[in-house]
Amino acid sequence: MTPPVAPTTAADITQAVLRSFDQTPDPRTKQLLQAAVKHLHAFATEVNLTTNELIRLAEILTAAGKISDASRHEFLLMSDVMGLTMVVDYNTNLKPAGAFESSVLGPFYRADAPWIEMGGDICRQKDAGTPTFVSGRVLSTDGSPIPGAVLDIWQAADNGMYENTDASQAEFNCRGRLRAADDGSYQFWTTKPVPYPIPKDGPAGLILDGAQRHNMRAAHIHVIVEAPGYEKVISELFVAGDPYIDSDAVFGVKNSLVVQFVRHDSSEDATRYGRPGLFYTVTYDFVLVPGATRNEVKFSAGRA
Ligand code: BEZ
Ligand code: FE
Repeated sequence: MTPPVAPTTAADITQAVLRSFDQTPDPRTKQLLQAAVKHLHAFATEVNLTTNELIRLAEILTAAGKISDASRHEFLLMSDVMGLTMVVDYNTNLKPAGAFESSVLGPFYRADAPWIEMGGDICRQKDAGTPTFVSGRVLSTDGSPIPGAVLDIWQAADNGMYENTDASQAEFNCRGRLRAADDGSYQFWTTKPVPYPIPKDGPAGLILDGAQRHNMRAAHIHVIVEAPGYEKVISELFVAGDPYIDSDAVFGVKNSLVVQFVRHDSSEDATRYGRPGLFYTVTYDFVLVPGATRNEVKFSAGRA
């Protein structure tokens, strides 16, 4: 009997498909394609994926494409809620103990935020939220200050919306950049961030609803810290005690990024900080690792 030429099992198909990518000229592309084939086939076999489920998946991906535009990145949002974004973060941005850790960039970052003075306010509207004074130092892992390090900060206003998705807010409201002083110190005012919902009117929402998961992000201030000769860090600071700190919809929370927001409402503190009424203070040192930035991320949203 002549041996069969065509594959006769799912495993044979996998081998044939893997071989079909053997001549891929770019080694990284070849690695990505062959690993994708291997794991996708294993996934289909593990769950015994049916043809109808495969068609449904295609429909969901089509819907993700249709709802996406320059300011809506549904495939990234699906990656975020599936925890893929943070797995990539853990794998590629590992820092030594004590160094400032990374987290998700998110879809609302805008490059070129206005520069603010030391101690200035990144929120350009009085009703943005409860005032919060953030201060500390930018240091190297050996404890020396990093003069001139750049902090790029952005966050949602009190209504849970980023200015670029909310026509009622001033342009660049709650966004700003500043440089650390010669001793590495920095100070700025912002507002106490609030938890906010990520969009669930597309396939990412389908995933969340299907699993009866909520779509709330634990309250956070986004920050990128960079200085020449140091690894740039894209990250966020979270509010200790936030109701979603243990169930952030995109798994962005790391212990070292959870900070105390200290409440002040005495007249002495009002005089000391020059702010009447209720406000909060946060103290945080950003510790950077000497070296070149690996995997520079290039992304900036627009204003709708
Ligand atoms: C954000 O924090 O801005 C964000 C991150 C991931 C998905 C949606 C929003
Ligand atoms: Fe955010």
